[in-house]
Amino acid sequence: SRTEKLLRKLPSPPFKLPIIGHLHLIGSLPHHSLRDLAKRHGPDVMLLRLGAVPTLVVSSPRAAKAVLRTHDHVFASRPHSAVADVLFYGCTDVGFAPYGEYWRQARKVITTHLLTAAKVRSNRAAREQEVQLVLAKVTAAAAMGIAVDVSELFSFFANDIVCQAVTGRLPREQGRNQLFRELLETNAKLLGGFNLDDYFPSLARLDLVSAKAVKHRKIWDDLLDSLIDKHKTKPVDGEDEEDFIDVLLSVQQEYGLTRDNVKAILMDMFEAGTDTTYIALDYAMAELMRNPKVMTKLQAEVRGCATKGKELVTEQDLSGMSYLTAVMKESMRLHAPGPLLIPHLSMAEWEVEGYTIPSGTRVIVNAWALGRDSTYWENAEEFMPERFMEEAVDAASDFQGNDFRFLPFGSGRRMCPGINFTTATFEIILANLIYHFNWELLPGSTGVDMSESYGMDVHRKEKLLLIPRMAQDV
Ligand code: HEM
Repeated sequence: SRTEKLLRKLPSPPFKLPIIGHLHLIGSLPHHSLRDLAKRHGPDVMLLRLGAVPTLVVSSPRAAKAVLRTHDHVFASRPHSAVADVLFYGCTDVGFAPYGEYWRQARKVITTHLLTAAKVRSNRAAREQEVQLVLAKVTAAAAMGIAVDVSELFSFFANDIVCQAVTGRLPREQGRNQLFRELLETNAKLLGGFNLDDYFPSLARLDLVSAKAVKHRKIWDDLLDSLIDKHKTKPVDGEDEEDFIDVLLSVQQEYGLTRDNVKAILMDMFEAGTDTTYIALDYAMAELMRNPKVMTKLQAEVRGCATKGKELVTEQDLSGMSYLTAVMKESMRLHAPGPLLIPHLSMAEWEVEGYTIPSGTRVIVNAWALGRDSTYWENAEEFMPERFMEEAVDAASDFQGNDFRFLPFGSGRRMCPGINFTTATFEIILANLIYHFNWELLPGSTGVDMSESYGMDVHRKEKLLLIPRMAQDV
């Protein structure tokens, strides 16, 4: 067929097996495998046959710019996923929705009503309250001289922040945050990794995997239904900031959203916002512990910008902390929580880098490889936030998808809409933990284990256990 002819012209590793194609070349850390394969067989673009699915792997800034910016209108769809179809009410969320009018409207709802800079700012008091709860826990541990599981601390914090923003004050009072955590863990298991059913769509049609997803979705469904009903009947309280459910219900008619659409979008907020934020924080703290000079410099900045004796470093104090932002960027350069973004799908036959890519080709952008490529970064493997400070060449690089060497949030139409939310959450908690405490590794520890585990996202395998000491000089 024409598609086959076009695919054969693309650079591709030779070791293809019947039925599974190149799947056997993908190890337990696919972002590493894809980088290594691309180096040898297609540094810009490379075709892999993953089971029955032709997949274009994009590994250079030029090729990434071609698919995410120049020809974004062609590559902005998502491949079908049987599991996501069940979980997200026929993919009527934002992240998994195919490109088209529904996706455009759903994305507009979240970008103009839920995740704007103004909306994120308006949630400041709630965020600061969550930070205070964390500080109380760490202060208690410091008083007793015991270690804190910082990974778990960040995971709970991110979950609580997202729960608070989405559902308001209800869940914590009723112990629901824990339930959300558990539900998200199962989501990650169902959706995560290199799923066989994604690469053998005929298997998925047999409903082997979907059965589990159906059962799991039912639990989500009951929970979201009860939250929506409670929001519909809750008394209007001038004190409370509107949460995402309030906002979605208020614009539901205007955007023509069904109740299932609302639930799918709510679930997306949990799914997309929670683990990514926790992973980003965990990696940043791990890198700070591995790089004491950076930690000292950050401490000096945070303690210098916030006045002495503060109970809480506030969002106002953050504005002068450019090194803190550089730490965040540098950490995400090395450890993008979504190293392969979310797969894209071509909607028409299109030319990229001199090759014609057939319609219906799955496209993976290896953002992790781009961030570590020594062709584009000096001392690429080193944690050096200075590269993002004013005097350095990379300082102008931002998260907004304009620098195609640095795409932790993607770029173009499908780019992450949660950057404001993430930055606000990340900076306030890290600044406070650095301001109030000095952090130590456990006695006898030889360092921080950076081994990775690949699932829905990539995170560190081992817990980060650290001993907090109250800082005396702040
Ligand atoms: C460290 C934090 C985060 C990282 C690293 C991150 C990263 C990403 C990436 C890589 C994508 C896919 C881009 C693409 O396919 O080209 C994405 C999509 C998305 N993210 Fe985030 N994200 C983060 C936080 C958040 C938060 C806090 C929210 C919302 C509360 C959010 C909501 C979304 C949504 C809805 C999409 C789908 C966009 C679409 O398909 O149109 N993300 N994110």
